[in-house]
Amino acid sequence: MPQSGEKTHFGFQQVALGDKQARVDDVFHNVARRYDLMNDLMSGGLHRAWKSTLVSALNPPKARGSSIGSGALDSRPFALLDLAGGTGDVAFRAIDAGGADLQVTVVDINADMLDVGRARASEHGFDDAVTFVEGNAEALPFPDRSYDAVTIAFGIRNVPRIERALEEAYRVLRIGGRFLCLEFSSVDVPGLDALYELYSFQLIPRVGQAVTGDREAYQYLVESIRKFPKPKVFARMIEAAGFRRVSFRPMTGGVVALHSGWRL
Ligand SMILES: C[S@@+](CC[C@H](N)C(=O)[O-])C[C@H]1O[C@@H](n2cnc3c(N)ncnc32)[C@H](O)[C@@H]1O
Repeated sequence: MPQSGEKTHFGFQQVALGDKQARVDDVFHNVARRYDLMNDLMSGGLHRAWKSTLVSALNPPKARGSSIGSGALDSRPFALLDLAGGTGDVAFRAIDAGGADLQVTVVDINADMLDVGRARASEHGFDDAVTFVEGNAEALPFPDRSYDAVTIAFGIRNVPRIERALEEAYRVLRIGGRFLCLEFSSVDVPGLDALYELYSFQLIPRVGQAVTGDREAYQYLVESIRKFPKPKVFARMIEAAGFRRVSFRPMTGGVVALHSGWRL
């Protein structure tokens, strides 16, 4: 339990650490039905390319029969855990790339986001390949070393205790497993930074209001992006959780970064 008086940020506001999750949950409860549409509108479809880069880096195996190890190990599917997986976007892309040899578990704390995800999975015919679990990234309901890879896309900055979520990702990964985190980052291209600032604070909350009826949710979104640690600092947090060969790759002028670490 948090120490009384411990604070954190919710966007630009200071809030009690123990209060942040409920406020984050409200945000995603309110936008769940229009979440995917808003992603396309806000990013001009770019979130699709960013997620595709994540899945390419993950490189889910098409078939495990020829991989090293014992026959028993080879016969099990590649197990991917997608944290804060919401409406299933990353999971579906990974299944598209990995085929029948991939088993994905999507964990999210928000039942409304998961409901949308389950409906989408059925539409795609992915019911057997993906399991949706309501759970907190800070305290995963899975045994140690039970996944081959752990991904999280645009989720980590919403988690109140980021260090705990990183430690949990490490704990549930098998030795040799990879952690990949896609997150908004810091734009440091002169000219683009000013434009991005204007776009973020002037346009996104207005579009959020028009599409979801919830301006505050999208105000939180842009503020939370600004409060997220710079990529080098976040890379050190990933290392502190135990990961090795930690690296990151900025994309689109630093709008987002793909972070990577291995459990070795
Ligand atoms: C911006 S959405 C990202 C959804 C999805 N990964 C994607 O890229 O489309 C952030 C997600 O994080 C989830 N989330 C927030 N705090 C969480 C926590 N402590 N544990 C698990 N999920 C959490 C929210 O419910 C929401 O679905």
